[in-house]
Amino acid sequence: MEKAVAEAPKTMSRVPISNRARLTPASPIRKLVHLANRAMETGTHVYRLNIGQPDIESPREFLEGMRAFDQKVVAYEQSQGNEALRVAWSKYTNRSLNLHTVPEQFLITVGASEALVFLFMTFCDPGDEILIFDPTYANFLGFASIAGVNLVPVPSEMENDFALPDRDRIERAITPRTRAILLCNPNNPTGTVYDRADLEFLFGLCEEHNLFFVVDETYREFVYDDLEPLSILHVAPTSDRVMVIDSLSKRFSLCGARIGCLISSNEAVLAALLKILQARLAAPTVEQFAAAYMLERIGDGYLEDMRREFLSRRDTLYQAVKQVPGVEIQKPRGAFYTLIQLPVRDTDHFAAFLLDEFSHGGATTFIAPAAGFYMQNSRGIDKARIAYVLRSAEIEAAVTVLAAGLERYRQQYP
Ligand SMILES: Cc1ncc(COP(=O)(O)O)c(C=O)c1O
Repeated sequence: MEKAVAEAPKTMSRVPISNRARLTPASPIRKLVHLANRAMETGTHVYRLNIGQPDIESPREFLEGMRAFDQKVVAYEQSQGNEALRVAWSKYTNRSLNLHTVPEQFLITVGASEALVFLFMTFCDPGDEILIFDPTYANFLGFASIAGVNLVPVPSEMENDFALPDRDRIERAITPRTRAILLCNPNNPTGTVYDRADLEFLFGLCEEHNLFFVVDETYREFVYDDLEPLSILHVAPTSDRVMVIDSLSKRFSLCGARIGCLISSNEAVLAALLKILQARLAAPTVEQFAAAYMLERIGDGYLEDMRREFLSRRDTLYQAVKQVPGVEIQKPRGAFYTLIQLPVRDTDHFAAFLLDEFSHGGATTFIAPAAGFYMQNSRGIDKARIAYVLRSAEIEAAVTVLAAGLERYRQQYP
């Protein structure tokens, strides 16, 4: 069970804490966890559609790799990452995406999360700006806060599947302090997949305005229908302004291994970031060893099965939610998330109600209120993010509970 966040955290310390820490937002995904835990303690089953933790078994090859580690001392790895892992990740990237990366472009980090924080610190001074599309992955806000960076949101809209805003709106948000455009593709929280023309458009803007283009490709292989995985490296393979953020967390259901990386051809950025990596010493030794072992051995079948499974869950979720009166759903084409719009005034209150005051047949459903995914919170107040990370039968059951909860809620809080 996840550790509950204290319900009323102490906000005052006798010795002051930093503004940075005070202003870093709590994770919107985790803030209702204490209510979910309480529901479970009273015997209610909780369908967790709130967090992107896949239930798929991690690859056998990774677990074999963990057992194959036979050093007598678990020593520090080198700061840039285990050499075998950099080689294996580069080979894997080239093989699966038909690219031509080299291991020297890879810096191994403690998840994509660490790569993002350190990258922001590498090319931004405090007060510099990074442009994002709103709604956004909520932890980007935390990363920016840690690094002292101002995220500047450019709104995208559910009505048109969160397509990129037009050039004019983006350009109006660029200032002399803008250092980068950050795109998550496929997108968390919307499930939108940006195509080659979108990437070319944003890359072109970065060229014109002399910005970095950071693309978080954590969900790159999770694309459905007729889509193929697309990397910004297909569009601009050698550009020194392109920064790819990658992770093994979702692709191989290895969230707890904490292995990510930055891929870049920019030697100045790599050298500067390496100094930050040296200050934090190294990423975990055994997990990096196991990741290299896995990437050298794993076939395409694991990912193909995973993709097929999420496609079927996506379809189940979409069909089930479409039946619920008053709820709007956008059909996601990638990742394993989507936003739904609910006929309630405040999904924070509704999500808490589901966990705290409601159950249906001994179960309830945990959804993530979407306000925390919007920098302009009020735009998300009637929406929730759904992570379709449960088996199809459970997704169906979770949506049945959600529908019953909605009916009761509207009677109780008209
Ligand atoms: C878009 C995005 N980037 C990064 C991460 C974090 O990845 P990691 O586990 O590699 O730190 C997540 C996790 O949910 C994510 O959704």
